[in-house]
Amino acid sequence: MRIGLLTGGGDCPGLNALIRAVVKQSTLHGDTLVGFRHGWRGVVDGDLFPLTGDHVRGIVNQGGTMLGTARFHPHEDNGGIDAVLETLKHERIEALVCVGGDGTLAAAGKLAEAGVRMICAPKTIDNDVWGTDRSIGFDTAVGIATEALDRVRTTAESHDRVMVVEVMGHHVGWIAVAAGIAGGADQILIPEEPFDIAEIAARLRHRHRSYATSSIVVVAEGATAKHGTLDFQAPEGPFGSIVAGAIGERIKYELQERTGFDTRVTILGHTQRGGTPTATDRILASRFGVAAADAIHEGATSKMTALVGDSIELVDIADVAGKLKVVPEELRRVASSLY
Ligand code: F6P
Repeated sequence: MRIGLLTGGGDCPGLNALIRAVVKQSTLHGDTLVGFRHGWRGVVDGDLFPLTGDHVRGIVNQGGTMLGTARFHPHEDNGGIDAVLETLKHERIEALVCVGGDGTLAAAGKLAEAGVRMICAPKTIDNDVWGTDRSIGFDTAVGIATEALDRVRTTAESHDRVMVVEVMGHHVGWIAVAAGIAGGADQILIPEEPFDIAEIAARLRHRHRSYATSSIVVVAEGATAKHGTLDFQAPEGPFGSIVAGAIGERIKYELQERTGFDTRVTILGHTQRGGTPTATDRILASRFGVAAADAIHEGATSKMTALVGDSIELVDIADVAGKLKVVPEELRRVASSLY
């Protein structure tokens, strides 16, 4: 069988481990692979190359994606779906393995409906893909953010400062909560729970009056204020993305003004998406890759590989599309219990 492989949306650590696993396992099955460059854009443009074991040698530990990626969704582009179908027919590609987050998976769902044989795998440092306990890249991002909190803490303590650390998380606060728990954050602001800046400032004043001389405040980039409490609208970048730093800077300003404490902000931004994947992400990516290659070879379609408990399962793409996996109440309670 001739299979096409693409990575779409924002990159993350672990994609190369997944690509390697798909190539190796498909080769064992006797299938051949082509790689599409820059996600769905490459499928529309017919930008592809034969992908062999030689291409994936030594990449298990490398960040980024050797295929390149792009935020491009063919179903939102005039004639995009037809162009994809045309490329597949012209290149005699019988099935696709598509690695992505919500936008890429939504496109995959549309193509599957149009009759393309399709297996997907979830990736995003935000960890917000529905139907899987983990997405590739999340573990690495949490490690990077936790190390940043550890580093910021010692300088905060030396200067008796409040440190605001902005992490990624457009619609959900998984990185903020996980790194916040691991790094001992004193306040965590996430999209799931709109904050009241006056309450946050009051809590910090109480902390510093009672026992603390420094505080760490973690804010997810998509965090929002409770209605009517703060006049703030995060500026939007291309494709509806959030302009990094806006909420972090604003929280820093407000806390400095409202508490009088010396306050600084650190924006972690794309450092969370770059560099070497953790062992956990490499293993998860490898498991997804092997499962995807097996599933496609066995004739499955319209499925996404998912981590459910300790097992890798296949879930329906149709059940995943358009849903968001938010941070559960239990984990949020652990975080706030430890302030
Ligand atoms: O991949 C998800 C994500 O990392 C979000 O947390 C963030 O808002 C967005 O990507 C940034 O995207 P870009 O790299 O296109 O600026």
